[in-house]
Amino acid sequence: MYAETGSQWNVAELEDAAHRHLISPAEEMSKLGTSGGRPLFTSADGIYIRDSHGRTLIDGPGGMWCTQVGYNSQPIADAIAAQALRICYNSPWYSINGPASELARRIAAFAPGDLDHVFFTTGGSSAVDSALRFMQFYNNVLGRPDKKAIICRIDGYHGSTHLTAACSGRAGNRPNFDLALDNVSFISAPNVFRRPRGMSEEAFLDMLVAEFEERVETLGPENVGAFLAEPLLASGGILIPPKGYHRRILEICRRHDILYISDEVVTGFGRCGHWFASEEVFDIVPDIITFAKGVTSGYVPLGGFVISDAVLARVSGENARGSFYTNGYTYSGHPVSCAAALANIDIIEEKGLLAHVREIAPYFQEEIRKLGELPLIGDARGTGLVACVECVTDPDAEEATDFDKEVALRVDRYCYEGGLIVRPIGSMCVLSPALIITREQIDDMMAILRGSIVRVQDELKAEGRW
Ligand SMILES: Cc1ncc(COP(=O)(O)O)c(C=O)c1O
Repeated sequence: MYAETGSQWNVAELEDAAHRHLISPAEEMSKLGTSGGRPLFTSADGIYIRDSHGRTLIDGPGGMWCTQVGYNSQPIADAIAAQALRICYNSPWYSINGPASELARRIAAFAPGDLDHVFFTTGGSSAVDSALRFMQFYNNVLGRPDKKAIICRIDGYHGSTHLTAACSGRAGNRPNFDLALDNVSFISAPNVFRRPRGMSEEAFLDMLVAEFEERVETLGPENVGAFLAEPLLASGGILIPPKGYHRRILEICRRHDILYISDEVVTGFGRCGHWFASEEVFDIVPDIITFAKGVTSGYVPLGGFVISDAVLARVSGENARGSFYTNGYTYSGHPVSCAAALANIDIIEEKGLLAHVREIAPYFQEEIRKLGELPLIGDARGTGLVACVECVTDPDAEEATDFDKEVALRVDRYCYEGGLIVRPIGSMCVLSPALIITREQIDDMMAILRGSIVRVQDELKAEGRW
């Protein structure tokens, strides 16, 4: 039985089972059935994770931007166990449960503006997918069947369902997949570092806003249903838009009755020092905010969206026109997941983690920017507890080169050897540690990253490649 023997499983046998039977996300198909180089993690505590070779590492990316309160939390484990024994499941299609109701109340209380109703899903992709399907439903009920186009950004990432994958503009995710692109339109990423040479940040912002406005005009405002955007593009490379970007785009959306969906799957639940970043950090109250990841600190899957009362009022009550929002999942509002989220929120509150992030983030950002002074690093950026360094071997190149990506992978490998996971995304090494991280642990993390970058710089010079 797993509960009794899980910790004693034979590692070689488990690795063999994975090679024979497991397909992982982003599987390199030519390597299916071989080791593929993925570590097998066996246990974790706080900000640290251990692999099957007994190596203890700082988990730099915090799982996948999700382990807010850190690993090995007894209160969350207890809440999960207690709820599993009390009532592990109820069908959300015809009943409700206590944890989902209470969690909806808590999330509504700290969501901005009149965002007051919560729909729960199973993760981030299903959260965004459900929000987009709400937009389609909404416009159908309002008798505007053509108002369905979704404007999103190159380099954005919103998930792996048919629709959210179509709305994700990261080139690397697209080959060999059919994408539901009919009603999806991409505009430029607000990539300040890669903006046209010689252009000021202000002019770049004007250009981005003008591009959005022109796209709305080209498509016809009567055909545009939603603008979908992460407050900062996370998987796209920690792209923080110029100040005022979201606000100006929101104003255009309001003018044309376009729903603004803020995808806070990464930025929600404390990553930027607030429950949500939309209003507090980026100065907007969108119509819908999607969330997942940090809502349970990664202990169990959960996601959802929180939506404005004003929007809901247009298609509910007297305005419902007999409609049912039939989008949903067997596990919408799963009681065990919601109980874990409630325990997680309690910990964030009791430990004052939002204030802790606001206090420690400036130090974290200062330290990451110091790495930007190394010759191999073209840019070092971030906000809150999310940051990256971008490896640039050729300052004249307009975009990241294959060599840049190879170099970032090498930095990543040396970090791992030194005791730190940094998730390389293309040419970028990304950090988004658990919110409980201390100043000393930030120092440890930066020292390993710096040492690895310097080692790669020295090697590249010795190899005559740089
Ligand atoms: C901004 C954003 N939205 C949506 C998703 C998809 O979430 P999930 O992987 O939980 O389905 C992700 C995943 O990284 C994300 O970063």
